[in-house]
Amino acid sequence: MCGIIGYIGPKDAVPYLIEGLRRMEYRGYDSAGVAVWTDDALEVRRAAGKIAKLEAALVASPLSGTVGIGHTRWATHGPPTERNAHPHLSADGTIAVVHNGIIENSTALKAALQDLGYEFRSDTDTEVIAHLVQELFDGSLEEAVINALRKIEGTYGLAVVSSKDRDKIVAARKGSPLLIGVGEGETFLASDPSAILAHTRQVVYLNDGDVAVIERDKYKVIDIDAMPQPRTVDRINWDLAAIERGGYAHFMLKEIFEQPTTIENTMRGRLILEDGTAKLGGINLSHEQLLNIDNIIITACGTSWHSALIGEMMIEELARIPVEVEYASEFRYKNPIVTERTLCIVMSQSGETADTLAAMREAKRRGARTLGLVNVVGSTIAREDDGGVYLHAGPEIGVASTKAFTSQVVALALFTLKLARKRELSVARGREFAQALAALPGQIKTVLDTASVIEAIAEEFKRASNFLYLGRGFNFPAALEGALKLKEISYIHAEGYPAAEMKHGPIALIDEMMPVVFIAPHDAVFDKVVSNVQEVKARNGKTIVITSRDEPSLKGLVDYEIRIPETADMLMPILASVPLQLLAYYIAVKRGSNVDQPRNLAKSVTVE
Ligand code: G6P
Repeated sequence: MCGIIGYIGPKDAVPYLIEGLRRMEYRGYDSAGVAVWTDDALEVRRAAGKIAKLEAALVASPLSGTVGIGHTRWATHGPPTERNAHPHLSADGTIAVVHNGIIENSTALKAALQDLGYEFRSDTDTEVIAHLVQELFDGSLEEAVINALRKIEGTYGLAVVSSKDRDKIVAARKGSPLLIGVGEGETFLASDPSAILAHTRQVVYLNDGDVAVIERDKYKVIDIDAMPQPRTVDRINWDLAAIERGGYAHFMLKEIFEQPTTIENTMRGRLILEDGTAKLGGINLSHEQLLNIDNIIITACGTSWHSALIGEMMIEELARIPVEVEYASEFRYKNPIVTERTLCIVMSQSGETADTLAAMREAKRRGARTLGLVNVVGSTIAREDDGGVYLHAGPEIGVASTKAFTSQVVALALFTLKLARKRELSVARGREFAQALAALPGQIKTVLDTASVIEAIAEEFKRASNFLYLGRGFNFPAALEGALKLKEISYIHAEGYPAAEMKHGPIALIDEMMPVVFIAPHDAVFDKVVSNVQEVKARNGKTIVITSRDEPSLKGLVDYEIRIPETADMLMPILASVPLQLLAYYIAVKRGSNVDQPRNLAKSVTVE
């Protein structure tokens, strides 16, 4: 979603701003802009569409200066046009603002400012901040921003510069991430560490309620009452290579192929084969607390919600604790039954999804303990949960989540193992499960070796307009995830269903034009799935079957087969999801879609 970048230092800010915006392109956006203090005035260049358009605007009308802010906007209030792109200038042109989040009382503030004679030039909620800061300015930019924040309701990550208080950027955070990058004689501001990683690894994460005043060689963090807020300097410990494509055509492909390593990294130092358990240093749950959990709620959105469904089945199967999986957006507005003996597991790749964060806060407020399974180190969920398990999958840049999904399932499996061994799982069964986990990286390599088979299937079906994905048991969530991957990046309508439920509706869609992907490994429900394959074949549907053995019962029913290795039933969705990711990827590429930045989607959804 929206991205913020700021630079103040001895050099020209514009290349830094553009580079930072490019590094955040993966988050999803539909317009972009920069504001720079040029020694004469505060000047803005903006463009609808991709950053290349903004660069063209900068070639046509160059800018240079040592203080600047930039933004990529994902439209909420008003269409993605140049006039709605950020930065927004105040009426007198002395204040420029970029903003992520939503100002909830913007209508009332706008009316009040209009009464004072301010004319609005955009449809955005952000423009009110620019005029408000102008109205309240009395010599100090931070004071004006703080006074404006007192009047604002809603969420924000924002950065403000002024031609009347020039050598600083004032930033503020409430509900939308921001960090300061501490360089040598230069300071950065960003909503995402990848925007500044090429220049510094020293970062200061801002907390909700923080206001930061950033200067060339210093910064301070205060609260809305101007009280200093001590914040530590953290070090980003991943490399630039992790956020670059490294020879792959797309980030998504790179991330699919990274999975043997990323899964290994999720398990590193955590799996204890001998005792058939897992060691998870960050969960902050004592032996007694683990024994005393009455029920578990897992809350998440999107792909993370699919991994949660697999977690639900694993925990119920092995640890025998009742689990409910809730869409975070629904959970936060329900009246859920939560006690002090409820554990709320929060799944999020980014650690910033607004609904998931709000759901976690609500669970906490009701007395539950929270456990975050998060990929992005230092993200808000990771900082606010009671305990956590980092995925260690490295930065995921492709909007369609792949390696984070498989790492989420692995992290859930590790947690299940730990929990189950504390309760009723025998050491022998624990060992078996641990060994199956340990074998996964090698098995994923085997699946990746079949990429050309999957690419050929993609060629056959690249013109399809609908797809059905069917699976049972642990592979039902894999079917949901396979369908989501396809629709996200290829824009083909796809539905995931429990295979037997097909009879209650989707079967009406089946004809010779309908590809149906079955996830049918040799597991406890294999024979049942074969009956469903027969039902599709009887209606001339086209079957693509992911299976794990030469099965006589499938003879004559399979139009296209994809072979995966065998593992524990619970871990099958990990192996099955890899060909599903590749199928979606190759179909999308063949249809000419922008795989890494699919239309309308955002990597991290920071609005409700
Ligand atoms: C967006 C992304 C999805 C992701 C979902 C949840 O919709 O496009 O890929 O699954 O948000 O994100 P999270 O970071 O909380 O896992």
